[in-house]
Parts: sequence; C-alpha cells; structure tokens
Amino acid sequence: MEHERFDLEPLPRRDLDPQELLRVIFDYAAKIASARILEHVLLLMADMGRDMIVSDRCTVWLLDVNKNELWSKVAHGLDEIRIPKTAGLVGYAVTHDKAVFIDDAYTNEEYQPYLLNGALLTDQQTGYRTKALMVIPFRNNQGEIIGAYQAINKMTATEQFSAKDMEYLTLAASYAGKSLESALLTNEIEETQKEIIFTIGEIGECRSKETGNHVKRVAEYSYVLALGLGLSHEEAALLKMASPMHDIGKMAIPDAILMKPGKLTEEEFNRIQNHTVIGYHLLKASKRPILQSAATVAYEHHEKWNGTGYPRGLRGEEIHIFGRITAIADVFDALGSERVYKKAWELDRILELFKAERGEHFDPAVVDVFFHKLPDILQIRDTYVDTHGEKPSLKTKKRRH
Ligand code: C2E
Ligand code: SIN
Ligand code: SIN
Ligand code: SIN
Ligand code: FE
Ligand code: FE
Repeated sequence: MEHERFDLEPLPRRDLDPQELLRVIFDYAAKIASARILEHVLLLMADMGRDMIVSDRCTVWLLDVNKNELWSKVAHGLDEIRIPKTAGLVGYAVTHDKAVFIDDAYTNEEYQPYLLNGALLTDQQTGYRTKALMVIPFRNNQGEIIGAYQAINKMTATEQFSAKDMEYLTLAASYAGKSLESALLTNEIEETQKEIIFTIGEIGECRSKETGNHVKRVAEYSYVLALGLGLSHEEAALLKMASPMHDIGKMAIPDAILMKPGKLTEEEFNRIQNHTVIGYHLLKASKRPILQSAATVAYEHHEKWNGTGYPRGLRGEEIHIFGRITAIADVFDALGSERVYKKAWELDRILELFKAERGEHFDPAVVDVFFHKLPDILQIRDTYVDTHGEKPSLKTKKRRH
C-alpha cells in the first residue's frame, strides 16, 4: 500500500504563467506520444493535469463498461484501482455527465453522499485531508463518456481551484479523451500526436475566444492550398499538422489585450505581434519535423509578401512557403469569423481584399490557387462550422465574375 505524503511541499506555491504551462504540456505531450503502455499514458496524463493546475494529486479514471467499474493506476502502486461505476464523486460525475467543483469537501453539503463513499471514506482510511476537489468527465471522438479527471487539493495560497483551473483541466480532459481512445483502439503514435497538436493549437485559440474549429479550418485550407501549389502529399500533410499551432504564442498574451473589444493601442498591438516570436521559441526546441514546421509557421504567418509584415519584415520568397500559405488560410478564416473586436465579413468583401492584396500582403501564386480552389475552400468552411461562440459568415452570396 502506498504511503500517504505528510511531507507535502509547503503552501503556497503559485500558478504557472502561460509559458510554463505550455512547457508542461509539451513535455508531457512528448512523453505521452512515445509511451507504449496504456497504464503509462494514464499516469502521464494524471501528472500533466496535476502540474498544469498545481494540484496535490490528480487521477485519470477510465470506464470499464463490461464490469460497470471505473479503474485507474496510481504511481508506485502495482495494481490498478477499481471502484463501482457509481461510487464517489467520480462515479457521480461520470454517470450524471457533470463536471464537479468543490471548495472544501468537509463543509460541502451538495455532494455529501458521494463524498462519504468516495473522498471522505478514503481520507478516513489514510489520514489525508481532502479540501478542494474537481472532477471533469471526458469523452471519446463519438461523444461518449469514457472516463474522468479527478484533481485534489490546490497547492497555492487560495487552496481553491479557479475557473481557469477548470478550463485547463477541461482542456487536458478533452485531449485525454481523444488520445486515450487512440491508445486504446489503435495504439497508433501518429494519431496520438495529431490529437496533441490539435489540442495544443486550441489553447492559443481558446484564449482569444476563437473556437476549436478555427484551427481545423486553417489546417484544411492550408492542405488544399499546398497541394494546389504543387507541393508533395508529404509536405502538404506536414503543413496540415503544423498550421493549427500558428497562434500558440497568444497563450502568453494577457486576456485584457486579446479580449479587448475595441481598437488596440500601438503598445498593445506590439505585444500581440510578439505572439509570433513567442510561438517560434516555444516550438523550435523540438527536433520533430511537425513541430519544426509549426515553429516556422508561428514565426512567419504574419509576414507579408511586400515586406511590410512582422516580426522580421521578410519579403517574397524569403518567407517560407508554409508561412505564405498559412497567412492566407488564417486571414481568410479570421475575416469570415466574428471576433471580440470585429464582425464577420461577407464573402464578397473578403474576396475583394484578397484581390487587392495579391502581391502586397499575399504571395500572388497562393492567391491564384486560392481562387482556383475556392469551391473546395468553401466546402471546408461549411463542413467545420463553429458549433458554439461565433460563427463564420454563412452568407455565401453568388459571386459576380
Ligand atoms: P486574428 O483575429 O486571428 O486575425 C488574423 C489576421 O487576420 C490579422 O492579423 C489580419 O491580417 C487579418 N484580419 C483580421 N481582422 C481583420 C480586419 O478586420 N481587417 C483586415 N484588413 N484584416 C483583418 P493582424 O492584423 O496582424 O492581427 C493579429 C492578431 O492581433 C489578430 O488575430 C487578433 O488576435 C489581434 N488583433 C488585431 N487587431 C485587433 C483589435 O483591433 N482588437 C483586438 N482585441 N485584437 C486585435
Ligand atoms: C514528441 O517528441 O513526441 C513531440 C513533442 C516535443 O518533442 O516537444
Ligand atoms: C476515490 O478517491 O476513491 C474516488 C472517488 C472520489 O473520491 O470521489
Ligand atoms: C491587416 O490588417 O494588416 C491585414 C490586411 C491589410 O493589409 O489590409
Ligand atoms: Fe497570428
Ligand atoms: Fe489564427
């Protein structure tokens, strides 16, 4: 039996800043992607969740539908642990499809019955003191609940989980659901990596209240444009996986700036522009081709063909082709979507801008392919409509030629 830790690190610790948070995710993502054993994946995901939100403990539970049980692994423990599907708070969260958030298990009344046959019972046996508790169910790609994340005790001065912690653990859970299913079904490393990449890309987008489908659309547009330009299938596939991370550096930009409804001051826009450099530095450390390409895209997606872009003012073919492609994919999607600071544009207006910016903002060759492939592009736009938050403009009026 594992011994409980009474020599906990002294409170208070502090929450991670965005760059530390990303570093944690990347470090674990790398380990998870190369883990070969499901039990290791579970432990790594639990540790990732724990470190992201600075909790004392974190457990990833999986549903065993045949036995109607929840099971997990704990570090150092030889055997898996199993509880009935309806036991404790985790059972409640999974069977009621509900995220649970408790500040103090000992004074909470709402969930008392579940705490009594879960956390509080465990405390009685071990002498541990559960205070803050958070449980978040997660789903597979078909939307079925397949398990839950459970976090216990916040190690910062507040000793309570925040809304941001909930957001982060939800993110970890969404990643866990998708990649655990891959690990369970196919054990394919490639699939796991793709999920990691989309999830990481979504972090940057969540922060600016762009919904997850933005990264999917940009990925698909980039793929179509790359093939249309004559790049190989391998290169196009590489770009498709790398482009979702173009805005990852926005993680490190304060909400007050990113979510500002109105026009930005010069200083604020300078800070936002820095998302390119931050993203580059976050991604370039990895030697993997996908992340190398992602670093390039993060760095160069706001460069302009005529040399007036940022951060380096590169011009023409000095800009990597992946950067030139993602620039168009990103602006097309940004213009067609509502943002806190702007309404969605109608398609005609977007196309006018693309014509005007051919050879200015954008590589003329990529613009030509864009118009040539417009039916495919619009098909993608309609397939990956945002399901919550803002929608891209659906008014695809007939174009005049
Ligand atoms: P984003 O919202 O994803 O926009 C990406 C790019 O799409 C922009 O890069 C720009 O090239 C193009 N774009 C988006 N909206 C418009 C528009 O209304 N008109 C035109 N002509 N182009 C548009 P950019 O300008 O370098 O901005 C980078 C990021 O900075 C944006 O990403 C957004 O997060 C932020 N940002 C830019 N302007 C504002 C603003 O006025 N308010 C706030 N809160 N954020 C802004
Ligand atoms: C990986 O190594 O599997 C990807 C993540 C990284 O190298 O940082
Ligand atoms: C457990 O810790 O035994 C799982 C269920 C819970 O704490 O609610
Ligand atoms: C921007 O706002 O910089 C993008 C489009 C343009 O150059 O007008
Ligand atoms: Fe950007
Ligand atoms: Fe973007």
